[in-house]
Amino acid sequence: MGKVHVFDHPLIQHKLSYIRDQKTGTKEFRELVDEVGMLMAYEVTRDFETTDVEIETPVTKMKAQRLSGKKLALIPILRAGLGMTDGIMKLVPAARVGHVGLYRDPETLEAVEYFVKLPQDIEEREIIVVDPMLATGASAIEAIQSLKNRGANKIRFMGLIAAPEGVKALQEAHDDVDIYIAALDEKLDDHAYIIPGLGDAGDRLFGTK
Ligand code: URA
Repeated sequence: MGKVHVFDHPLIQHKLSYIRDQKTGTKEFRELVDEVGMLMAYEVTRDFETTDVEIETPVTKMKAQRLSGKKLALIPILRAGLGMTDGIMKLVPAARVGHVGLYRDPETLEAVEYFVKLPQDIEEREIIVVDPMLATGASAIEAIQSLKNRGANKIRFMGLIAAPEGVKALQEAHDDVDIYIAALDEKLDDHAYIIPGLGDAGDRLFGTK
C-alpha cells in the first residue's frame, strides 16, 4: 500500500492558509503555490540516494556527498499541475518535465487523455506526478496508468490538498505509489470539489472562471 505523507511543517501550513483564503488574488496564489511546491520538493526527495565524492576545500581534501545520478522526471497533470512544477524545479533544476493532459468526459465523468509528452527514457527515471488537488483521484489514477503503460515504474504523487476519497481510490488503483500532500481534507461535495479545499486550483492559478 502506498504511504501517505502529510507535511505539517509550519511554513507550509502558513502558506497553505493564504492559498485556501478566497481573498488571495491570482498573483499571490500563484507565488504561494510555487513556494509550497519548492518546500514540499525538499521533503519529497528526502530518500534520494547520495554517493561519496572526493573534493578539495580550500583547506583540505574530503569526501562529500552528491546525488547518485538519480534521474528525475516531473509530470504535471494539465493544467493545475503546472502551478507547482516551477517551485520543484528550483530545487532540482536538472529534472525533465513531461506533461499529461486529461479532461473529464461530461457524460461518463471519466478522465480522458488528450495529450501526453514524456522524456524518452521515462522507464529509467524517478517520477513525481504533480497535481495540486487529489479529489476523486480519477485524473491521478489515469495519468499514472498512462505512465506505467509507457514503461514508468518508480512513481510518486505530489499535491497540495487531498480528499480521503481520492487517497483511497489512488491507493487501491496503484498500491506502489506514495502520496505526498500538505493537507488531508474532510470530504468531497456533490460536484467533486474538496471541502474545505481551495476552490478550483486551475482557475485560481490562471485567473480564469
Ligand atoms: N479540482 C480542483 O481544482 N478543486 C477541487 O476542489 C477538486 C478538484
